[in-house]
Amino acid sequence: DKFMKKLPEPFKLVEGELQPFSDSIKELVSSDQPVLSMAAKHFFEKRHGKRFRPTIVQLMAAAVAASNVEGLAGDSSGASKISTPINPSNHKGSEVWRRQAQLGQIVEMIHVASLIHDDVLDEADTRRGGEAVHKLYSNKVAVLAGDYLLARASVLLARLENTAVVQIMATALESLVSGEIMQLKSPPESLLQMDTYLRKSYYKTASLVCYACRSVALLGGHAYNSEVATACEEFGYHLGLAYQVQDDILDFTGVASVLGKPALADMDLGLSTAPILYAAQEYSALRPLVMRRFKKSGDKQTALEHLFKSETAMKKANDLAMFHAEKAIEALLRLPESEARNALVRLTWVVITRKK
Ligand code: FPP
Ligand code: MG
Ligand code: MG
Repeated sequence: DKFMKKLPEPFKLVEGELQPFSDSIKELVSSDQPVLSMAAKHFFEKRHGKRFRPTIVQLMAAAVAASNVEGLAGDSSGASKISTPINPSNHKGSEVWRRQAQLGQIVEMIHVASLIHDDVLDEADTRRGGEAVHKLYSNKVAVLAGDYLLARASVLLARLENTAVVQIMATALESLVSGEIMQLKSPPESLLQMDTYLRKSYYKTASLVCYACRSVALLGGHAYNSEVATACEEFGYHLGLAYQVQDDILDFTGVASVLGKPALADMDLGLSTAPILYAAQEYSALRPLVMRRFKKSGDKQTALEHLFKSETAMKKANDLAMFHAEKAIEALLRLPESEARNALVRLTWVVITRKK
């Protein structure tokens, strides 16, 4: 903890860069249909959330610019793998930088679209400390507002004029949908499996982060299969998983008023996440409850009792988040040292120690 606090503060470092971000994103999502504008803008004004994803994109953009001159740490051939090297001191304000910042906006728009749809699917009434879009308007408007944001994000994506990035980000969209359908339709036996849980978590959360990170490297001039692009993607993959595992822990340990969304919501949706899966490994009595998605009355209470009785389940879930956080940091350390890279190390720590 002490060590982490010596590193640059990730959110502070890009604060200035994210301010114009909020102003222009509101314009980008305005429509001649007032209700779409209002619903779409909702999460970019007061309720803009933690802005984790755009912060990651912005920091990664600076970190990969630093890679251009030095190549990979310990890799003398690094420079030859880069197609259009840019001087890191000219990066901020450059065309490359502008496109990477735009990618940050695209990622936040996709994320917000998925949250608006998610709250319809999950029948969750609150988000980011306020009413969910479907509560403010209706399910129908929420579906359309999410679609509208996706449409706007697609236009911005095309404007990047980089077909590889378009393909990567379109695949990220596909993954989000796969994750949701997997969560909805997994056969009972697979509900007990840790690897099904992790694959679903990859699809619904990590994919967007890891594809965004690879795209930042590509926009920065690094080749698709360069070690820089791969390190970026691996960082995003592990950070995304750490983020989701922590999210699932907070569903049990967090407080709705702090989270800004309902707590203890996953079991209501029939979902077993890391803490419950570890508890079910310890107490076989929990397994049928997991498989029937806590449908019988009293199931949720029983599951909670076992979870809190267990001395290892919650600790194992925390260790799992920690494992992925360490892997994420390992990937970062393959990039050359820079202020932005160190801020990303600290951000990884924030992800697994956050309370909301
Ligand atoms: C939040 O998970 C949900 C997601 C990360 C992805 C949702 C994706 C869709 C609804 C598919 C549609 C996709 C697009 C691109 C519109 P959660 O419900 O576990 O988290 P929560 O506690 O924040 O609600
Ligand atoms: Mg959901
Ligand atoms: Mg949800």
